[in-house]
Amino acid sequence: MKVMVLGGSGSIGSGVVPHLLRAGHEVLALSRSQASDSRLRAMGAKTLRGSLTETGAWLPHLAGADALIQLAASFDSQMAAADTVAMEAVMAHAARRYMPLRLLYTGGGWLYGATGNRVAGDEAPQRPIAPFNWMRINAQRLMAAPGLSVAVLHPASVYHEEGGVFSRFLASARSGQPMEYWGNPGTRWPLIHRDDLARAYRMLLEQPELTGNFNAAAETGVPVRDIAAEAARRHGHDGSYIVRTLKHVLLKYGAWAEGPTLDLQMAADRLRSLGWEPRFRSFRKAVF
Ligand SMILES: NC(=O)c1ccc[n+]([C@@H]2O[C@H](COP(=O)([O-])OP(=O)(O)OC[C@H]3O[C@@H](n4cnc5c(N)ncnc54)[C@H](OP(=O)(O)O)[C@@H]3O)[C@@H](O)[C@H]2O)c1
Repeated sequence: MKVMVLGGSGSIGSGVVPHLLRAGHEVLALSRSQASDSRLRAMGAKTLRGSLTETGAWLPHLAGADALIQLAASFDSQMAAADTVAMEAVMAHAARRYMPLRLLYTGGGWLYGATGNRVAGDEAPQRPIAPFNWMRINAQRLMAAPGLSVAVLHPASVYHEEGGVFSRFLASARSGQPMEYWGNPGTRWPLIHRDDLARAYRMLLEQPELTGNFNAAAETGVPVRDIAAEAARRHGHDGSYIVRTLKHVLLKYGAWAEGPTLDLQMAADRLRSLGWEPRFRSFRKAVF
């Protein structure tokens, strides 16, 4: 298939793009910089220069594409507006298409809010943290739009060889600084390895009849203290830590930082019922 990818140079995109290329798909990726161009071309993708809001740079190329994957997000105050501008342009384009456009839109576990001891299934009520409410709304609008076949993937927290969501703990482990817990060391994160997530994107890309919400998680909920302890063990760190309050992390990192403080569990029942199984069942078995 001819696939356009927005956000192909990011943490998730850097797993999805090479996986699709290896499977024989053609990838045209949007890129904002020379550095991202180089990264994407090294994967084997073709690139287009522009940002989400510069729709004139990439929208005309959608006419020749079978599918679009949206993985771009800036995690700043412009994030909601940029996604909305881009997705409204996609909806206007799709309404004029002869053949429907396959769209894989990316949500995330944070759209469920804190679940505590409950495990969010694919159709669980969504109560997003405020800085991500736009994502729930845009996903709903896209799913209702004519000319689109939409699957919304909700990845758990994503880790990989370079760290991903473990990066903060790895940096502390390597430098000998205390581990930093945001909120509570007992907070649970659902986890997925990037390679397993890339396989889920490919599976849904290739089956446009599969629409709606799809959770992507391999481990339902792992306490962050277990993740930090594993990073500490691998790097000879002494296990010392400090606990940061929600107020502290919001002030220091911005509104998105509420996400990692959520005690969240989720399960990927729909993907599993379709034959997807994670190869990384425990983060302890992975290289990071
Ligand atoms: N990582 C996770 O654990 C996780 C879990 C659940 C959901 N998600 C969701 O998945 C999506 C991707 O996350 P990620 O972790 O891969 O993010 P990331 O590593 O920060 O990458 C973001 C990507 O978006 C691009 N980008 C940012 N702003 C852009 C703009 N205005 N125009 C065009 N491109 C732009 C970046 O390009 P540059 O290379 O130019 O910076 C980069 O390729 C996000 O929506 C996130 O909320 C992530």
